[in-house]
Amino acid sequence: MRQLLALLLAVAPVSAFAHETPAPFTAAPLAMGSSWYPEQWPETRWDADLTLMKRAHLNVVRIGEFAWARIEPKDDVFDFAWLDRAIAAAGRNGIRVVIGTPTAAPPIWLTEAHPDTLRVDADGSVARHGGRRHFSYASTTYRRYATRIAEQLARRYGRNANVVGWQIDNEIGVPSYDRDATARWAAWLTARYGVIDVLNRRWTTEYWSQTYTGFEQVPLTLAADQNPALVLDARRFASSVWADYIGEQARAIRRHADPRQFITTNSTLWNDNFDQYLVHSDLDIAAWDEYVPDGHPDWAANALHHSVVRSYKRRNFWIMETQPGRVDWGPINRSLDPGQTRELAWQAVAHGADAVLYWQWRSALNGQEQYHGTLVGPDGTPMPIFDEIARTAAELHVAAQYLVGTTPAPAEVALIYSQESRWSIEHERHSRDYDPVAVLKDWYRPFASAGIPVDVVAPDTDLSRYRLVMAPQMTVLDAATARRLELYVAAGGHLLLGPRSGMKDGDNALSLARQPGSLAALLGGRVDYYYPLDNEVGLSGLGIAGAARVWAETLEVQPGTTVLARYGAHSGWLSNKPAFVMRERGKGWIAYIGALLDGDGQMGIVRWASAKASLKPSMIPAQSDLEVVERRLGRRRYFVAINHGDRDISLALPAKLSFILGDISGSTLAAHGVALFANNSSNP
Ligand code: GLA
Repeated sequence: MRQLLALLLAVAPVSAFAHETPAPFTAAPLAMGSSWYPEQWPETRWDADLTLMKRAHLNVVRIGEFAWARIEPKDDVFDFAWLDRAIAAAGRNGIRVVIGTPTAAPPIWLTEAHPDTLRVDADGSVARHGGRRHFSYASTTYRRYATRIAEQLARRYGRNANVVGWQIDNEIGVPSYDRDATARWAAWLTARYGVIDVLNRRWTTEYWSQTYTGFEQVPLTLAADQNPALVLDARRFASSVWADYIGEQARAIRRHADPRQFITTNSTLWNDNFDQYLVHSDLDIAAWDEYVPDGHPDWAANALHHSVVRSYKRRNFWIMETQPGRVDWGPINRSLDPGQTRELAWQAVAHGADAVLYWQWRSALNGQEQYHGTLVGPDGTPMPIFDEIARTAAELHVAAQYLVGTTPAPAEVALIYSQESRWSIEHERHSRDYDPVAVLKDWYRPFASAGIPVDVVAPDTDLSRYRLVMAPQMTVLDAATARRLELYVAAGGHLLLGPRSGMKDGDNALSLARQPGSLAALLGGRVDYYYPLDNEVGLSGLGIAGAARVWAETLEVQPGTTVLARYGAHSGWLSNKPAFVMRERGKGWIAYIGALLDGDGQMGIVRWASAKASLKPSMIPAQSDLEVVERRLGRRRYFVAINHGDRDISLALPAKLSFILGDISGSTLAAHGVALFANNSSNP
């Protein structure tokens, strides 16, 4: 411990070099742990569980997130004694605690006394007790109870030395259409538009007699047959209600919590019920629940997932839940292969996770998740995955001495994730096959294969430090974002836009200029028309050969704008038309690719853009199935190499790297193996 403290002090002044705020909120430099539900077991069992956790080198548990009925058995009657003892027992065993506020599972007394707090779904059905998340996020009454229990917990444990952080609720997202929600919606619209005629004009309600005379008339709905402006606003509204819900609890906790305790929520990936950036504004760190339900990890997609979550706060994050082997909610629930649970944990850490917690420790004898993967069985003894997790935790404790305070190295490439554009496309895909999440993965994947780090960023991020900025589908392009992109290029930045960019304004209305809307002047070109495809169409140009798929736009250019690739001959409307164009602006440039591409085409674009933006090559040369990720603190640089494939890989290791730990023999990295290296000046 003393050694660790000395290490922390030694690195503290260097933290100013890190490009991102170093994460100050960690239980230990790297935490490994599990969800633990002491309320489900006799107290006489607790020490045996905690001893087993120690054997697995776990040092953190998350508790309490579904225990409202136990903590507050009657309205305003609190029983903390058992929780005091559980937290103390964990502490005695050297295990830190994250407390989950139990608001995802309100108790029956609350539901009975206030049935109006129940969630109402879009079809009018009312949620029932027993299935969790049976509350309305908009209910003023529910908010009162939820904030009260969060505050009571914080009063009790906000100064508890063994409590390192707070998780608000659990996997929020399901909206409600109850009376409080519709009242909030009318108020939200009033605040946004002031007078109803402004809404009518901006939404173009002179269409199917949608014209409204009062805000309370506007339906709260995400239905496919509704006005795109209404649906985008309904999404924004839900985001604001969730942000407010989280913010209320965060503020209640913060009133009593030691600043050393972090506040987060555990999010699910690609959850499009709300804008993650907004919801995270009142939180200290992001945390997410990483699951691979089919048991077949897609490493490049996983890398993107971590980058997406890291972008919420632009700092290290936690894996608050992940599967010990398998889940119980997929169609088949295949287990990860031996070694893959470890591989996933290392990958998460490489990308900036400061903690990995498994869900869950031991399954309750009843309850809805009896078949889920666990570390110990119903009999309380280790399951087959236990040893692999114990090995991983032991390794990460060693790695922690090196990785403490580090964050993923600054990337030269930014990928803009526009949640509003995703909503807009989802509402009107136009082609069934246009999947906006798949598009992000397709753009990211070739960078992962080429070993080029990419930061995912929100549209309002300061882009000045990136050599290449990609906006694969900036469909909703508001004036402020367009201006920021223009300034970025004017200052010498390199901007690559994908199809459908700039098609809509901030009201989800068609832009008066064709794509890329307000960036058309900067590009010196525009989209002539767009064509959904049911077959691939070849496209070729400067070093790029591939095929357009799903979506193709024909472009027209003015003098000064270069055509880099064209669609092939004999392809109907697309024949020989420009598909990829670029304009230099001083040291900067803007390019527009008007098609979704197959793998070859996408790789061609990446090669072109990397060369054109002069991106630095990776320290360990890329190879198929090899992932190398750097974590850095000032001049100290560490490299996690992961072989995601089934064959051994021979690494081309620069002499200045020294091996710390992992599955290396000579320079060979074993199949599904992991290794940690440091540059030579990095020893702690
Ligand atoms: C989610 C929930 C957990 C549990 C797991 C099972 O992530 O947060 O409570 O239900 O799924 O995979």
